[in-house]
Amino acid sequence: MHRLNEDWLSGKMQLFTAVSVAFALLQVTRAQSPVWGQCGGIGWSGATSCASGSVCTVVNSYYSQCLPGAAAPTTTSAPAPTSAPTTSPSAPTSTPATSTAVPGSCSTPFTVSGYSNTKLPNPFLFDDGTAVKTKEDWECRRAQILSLVEGYEAGALPGPPSSLSATFTQSGTSGTLAITVSNGGSSITFSPKITFPSGSPPAGGWPLVIAYDGLSLPVPSGIATMIYANSDMAQQNDASTSRGVGLFYNLYGKSATASAMTAWAWGVSRIIDALEQTPSANINPQKVAVTGCSRDGKGALMAGALEPRVALTIPQESGSGGDACWRLSKFEQDSGSQVQTATEIVTENVWFSTNFANYVNNLSVLPFDHHLLAALVAPRPMISFENTDYVWLSPLSSFGCMTAAHTVWQALGVPDLHGFEQVGGHAHCAWPSSLTPQLNAFFDRFLLGQSNVNTTAFATNNQFNGVTWNQANWIDWTTPTLT
Ligand SMILES: *[C@@H]1O[C@H](CO)[C@@H](O)[C@H](O)[C@H]1NC(C)=O
Ligand SMILES: *[C@@H]1O[C@H](CO)[C@@H](O)[C@H](O)[C@H]1NC(C)=O
Repeated sequence: MHRLNEDWLSGKMQLFTAVSVAFALLQVTRAQSPVWGQCGGIGWSGATSCASGSVCTVVNSYYSQCLPGAAAPTTTSAPAPTSAPTTSPSAPTSTPATSTAVPGSCSTPFTVSGYSNTKLPNPFLFDDGTAVKTKEDWECRRAQILSLVEGYEAGALPGPPSSLSATFTQSGTSGTLAITVSNGGSSITFSPKITFPSGSPPAGGWPLVIAYDGLSLPVPSGIATMIYANSDMAQQNDASTSRGVGLFYNLYGKSATASAMTAWAWGVSRIIDALEQTPSANINPQKVAVTGCSRDGKGALMAGALEPRVALTIPQESGSGGDACWRLSKFEQDSGSQVQTATEIVTENVWFSTNFANYVNNLSVLPFDHHLLAALVAPRPMISFENTDYVWLSPLSSFGCMTAAHTVWQALGVPDLHGFEQVGGHAHCAWPSSLTPQLNAFFDRFLLGQSNVNTTAFATNNQFNGVTWNQANWIDWTTPTLT
């Protein structure tokens, strides 16, 4: 049986391409793709030129998009499709020896022994089963969840490096932030590019969207954009040879437990460090959003979860490993859907730690799931977008998982700071313009500082491949009001 994953899909698409070439010869020339429309990628046989005012830009091997402006950002290194690994994940490393430091008497172990729960774990119970009652309690609970995410699936996040310096250069609306980080005897440099709006920056500097690998959603005027070459920070070609490869591992060693997801998030933290100490870049470090699509959507969520200075988190079509829950994706698979699951993901890539492979066949022992990963973002704002027409994403899982996460924003009194929108009718990582108002509401309110913006946005088309969402089967808590 074929294992269905992104690489498998690309293989099928290549077969389809060979067939469609014949038809393409008979077709009349297609119109140009509109702004934000697809213009290339593996399997794409549509228009490859873009409407005036936009440029066809490679987002990844599977997707090129018409981005506005002549100086559209380009990705520096799209990962090449590779065949599925033939070896199983290497033996798990031991869990990190120490837990994340938090102030006070909060205990934050990396694992909880004896835990077993087929439903989604209750956000409002501490590891020891006592109730979370106040917003102050939530700070400790958040620290506990952070440790669990590191201990079970993401690997340990190192503390701040011993030194960091940055230089900034600008030419017209293009800037480069060259960041040098040193730790122990090693140092690395990476140089993300920034595209600035024209005109004068607001007091405090321009807001910024950091896009993993490339930008695949529309950013309104008045916001700068940065393309983050996260695959240089931690390689993501396959599940074996990419492990421990990339700038992050040049600094912390090939055997660091941090997975690619963690290493990428660490890089976002260093970018924000650099912005904080480089006022000449004219970026407001308190107005930084992070986004990405598909595997990079998983990464964007992890960055928002791990780095509290991320002001707005926007995962796009992140699916399992992102805004979907491991338990729910397994349920979808058990119900006959071909969706990405934990057992698949540890054999597809190095996104998560080797340790996670210990748990993927026994998800009930996980004292967290990705509703709690998302809850690490709360009470900061987050909106995630999902696509019910891309089979490999797990639509019920994302909806159910974000429904569970939403209870945390509710408990903190800010339900309108957490959005979720799920539609079909578009290609993977293509932007559906019907959702631009919801996206812009989040940008307007949280990056552009506009008041009187309604950010209540939580909707699905309920297209779950015939699988039924039964909330009581998964969410067994009532939502408290944390005082
Ligand atoms: C799964 O975890 C439970 C609880 O720790 C344990 O009783 C059970 O044996 C485990 N099952 C497998 C297949 O590892
Ligand atoms: C905000 O938008 C939501 C969703 O469209 C709507 O239900 C709600 O009534 C709006 N709230 C206000 C105050 O307009």
